[in-house]
Amino acid sequence: MAREITVVIDREKCTGCGLCLEVCPDRTISLEENRAAVTGERCMECGHCRAVCPAAAIEVTALAPESLRFNSFAMENRWLEWGAFAPAELVRLMASRRSCRNYLAKPVSRALLEDLVKIGATAPSGTNSQKWTFTVLDRRDQVEKFGNRVALFFRKLNKMAANPFYRLLSGFTGKNELGNYYRRYFASVQRALDLRDREGCDLLFHGAPAAIVVGSEEGASCPAEDALLASQNILLGAHALGLGSCLIGFAVSAIKHDPAIKEILTIPRREKVHAVIALGYPAEHYQRLTGRRPLQPRFPDMSG
Ligand SMILES: Cc1cc2nc3c(=O)[nH]c(=O)nc-3n(C[C@H](O)[C@H](O)[C@H](O)COP(=O)(O)O)c2cc1C
Repeated sequence: MAREITVVIDREKCTGCGLCLEVCPDRTISLEENRAAVTGERCMECGHCRAVCPAAAIEVTALAPESLRFNSFAMENRWLEWGAFAPAELVRLMASRRSCRNYLAKPVSRALLEDLVKIGATAPSGTNSQKWTFTVLDRRDQVEKFGNRVALFFRKLNKMAANPFYRLLSGFTGKNELGNYYRRYFASVQRALDLRDREGCDLLFHGAPAAIVVGSEEGASCPAEDALLASQNILLGAHALGLGSCLIGFAVSAIKHDPAIKEILTIPRREKVHAVIALGYPAEHYQRLTGRRPLQPRFPDMSG
């Protein structure tokens, strides 16, 4: 279904420079009598036309200015020129973000978590669908409840995987998921479950007092990619705001296999979950950056 186009052009202000036409991915705008006019039938509401206009003649009413207003910091609402941000600072931030597995018992304010969601939503999304969803747990007891439900899933899974009959059956049918799980995760998950039972250790959420579950509504062209790009923004934003973070793939996997877990999070069944991010004030500190394994990018000679 075609969406209503929400681009509004002030013909008085428009100088007819045509820059908005150049950056529009949808050919929504054309020049009529030397002034920009909405003539197309589609618009993905990316806001490039508004951003590029030297005369500030364009508004896109679907876009919310408050999406770039934050509770915990003030941001200059001016576009950064290509190359204007220090790459060394950007990459230092990226490399300084580490998965945090020790948290203080200090709560994270809703205001800060709301900011993180907005930071997440600055990510690109396929056809600008922005069909991501963010479910925010801002209390430790909520994270614990979620963790207990995930632990219950893994308890059942381990019971099944421990049974050679089920593993054999899984080998005959499809991708042998149970056999692979048994080889790769069974023992470490069992250890984590035992420690949880015996000593109350939270090896799933690492004691985090908050979490954000990133999902997608139906109808996105690239739901997983969008959600994961938003998640990476949240991880970087968290570091900049003084928070530690950790992706919890085990929780995502539990939800994928046991969608009923969504109910305790009030996430509708039709939504998919792509990332679970543990968040909190860090109780760990690093002295240095460590880098990654050596990389060999491929530069194909495609002349032949
Ligand atoms: C998709 C994904 C799932 C992950 N799941 C978990 C998890 O369940 N528990 C955990 O402690 N860390 C998890 N991690 C964190 C990785 O172990 C971590 O990113 C990796 O060891 C590199 O360390 P760094 O994030 O500190 O750079 C996950 C990371 C990704 C990308």
